[in-house]
Amino acid sequence: MSSFGTLFRVTTFGESHCKGVGAIVEGAPPGMCLTEADIQPQLTRRRPGQSKLTTPRDEKDAVSILSGTENGRTLGTPIALFVENLNIRPADYSEMQDVPRPGHADYTYQVKYGIRASSGGGRASARETIGRVGAGAIAEKWLLEAFDLKIVAWVSSVGDVEMPESLDGELLRFSREDVDERGEMRLLTADKPESPHYEDSALRLYSSTGEHCAPLSEAELEAARTDDLVNVRCPHPETACRMASLISSVKAAEDSVGGVVCCRVSNVPAGWGEPCFDKLEAALAHAMLSLPATKGFEIGSGFRGTRMLGSQHNDPFCGGSSSGRLGTTSNHAGGTLGGISNGADLLFRVAIKPVSTIGRPQSTCDFDGNACVLEAKGRHDPCVLPRAVPLVEAMAALVLADAALKQMAREKSIESLTS
Ligand SMILES: Cc1cc2nc3c(=O)[nH]c(=O)nc-3n(C[C@H](O)[C@H](O)[C@H](O)COP(=O)(O)O)c2cc1C
Repeated sequence: MSSFGTLFRVTTFGESHCKGVGAIVEGAPPGMCLTEADIQPQLTRRRPGQSKLTTPRDEKDAVSILSGTENGRTLGTPIALFVENLNIRPADYSEMQDVPRPGHADYTYQVKYGIRASSGGGRASARETIGRVGAGAIAEKWLLEAFDLKIVAWVSSVGDVEMPESLDGELLRFSREDVDERGEMRLLTADKPESPHYEDSALRLYSSTGEHCAPLSEAELEAARTDDLVNVRCPHPETACRMASLISSVKAAEDSVGGVVCCRVSNVPAGWGEPCFDKLEAALAHAMLSLPATKGFEIGSGFRGTRMLGSQHNDPFCGGSSSGRLGTTSNHAGGTLGGISNGADLLFRVAIKPVSTIGRPQSTCDFDGNACVLEAKGRHDPCVLPRAVPLVEAMAALVLADAALKQMAREKSIESLTS
């Protein structure tokens, strides 16, 4: 269905090539300050055309709030968000009229509905996620104001290029600004593989394989600098350079590559989540696997935890927190026990596949079963991982806003008997 959540509820609408896309958001507390300026930054992080490594489609994705607010405050009534589809080129999809794209949803939509949007992927297109990101920005604003809750996601691997593994280490304590700043590189013109290919935001230089390079003279640097910035949203610059090099080689080969987005949520109060069927981790898995192109979800130690013993995996409790609640000395659980938040950070990972529309010829067959070769024309992303970061953050915010409202209702019902 196109709706998600119970008390904080979002319904998205729109196909990739109709007049526009958006969402109806219900459950945002009345009286909250809210304007388009609170929502636009996350939509801008999601949009295509942010760097040389993403699709050259340049969609502005400017959001309008159509209802649910007055004089910059929420009324408690449904908030309608709308973004116009301005950058439509149906001709880019002409070769796919009769041929379902391998790995995409053309075939299954046709089988299910007997009809499908003629271009752009319809509801299966990532443009549907605009409504989620807009709604997520509203949820996130409330969660920050009410609980100081912070959600930060980042790209931890692209193909076989991975950030150094230190699950509970300092590396994972980034802010969103760190992710955007440290993951952004200026491209330099370079004639040898070992010469500087990238300059990070702190003006350090790196080779194509992420090795640190000796500084260049100001004149050499000026000659090498281009206007092109790439942002892979990996906050470890050495790894970010290797990811950028991998993505550009995949792009040159007209192919695509996948990876993993990690997410940390801090300051989640203990007690959120609804056992048994709506355990907090089950709600997060549902949310993440409802995003296009996602293929896996892990919380805490995830699949790697299966290689540990119970004595290693258990997170011992410790006292002494200012809230009077128990803490844990490690966090293999990933922030939940029995489907209920335990007060530790939520830590989870989402696997994203290499997207299906590629320029490289692929042997397949048309809707009638006749063998053919498909070569996608047009503007397609070789790697959507950097753009998936705000999607993961948005879905986490929607799950947590819903969980928060449910727990607040329960706490009121407990108070009603004790007071
Ligand atoms: C941010 C983002 C951008 C995407 N862009 C494309 C794209 O340009 N081409 C493509 O084939 N798929 C793209 N996808 C993936 C498809 O929407 C998705 O694979 C397709 O709907 C099939 O659904 P499934 O992979 O969930 O089975 C994108 C996904 C995300 C998250």
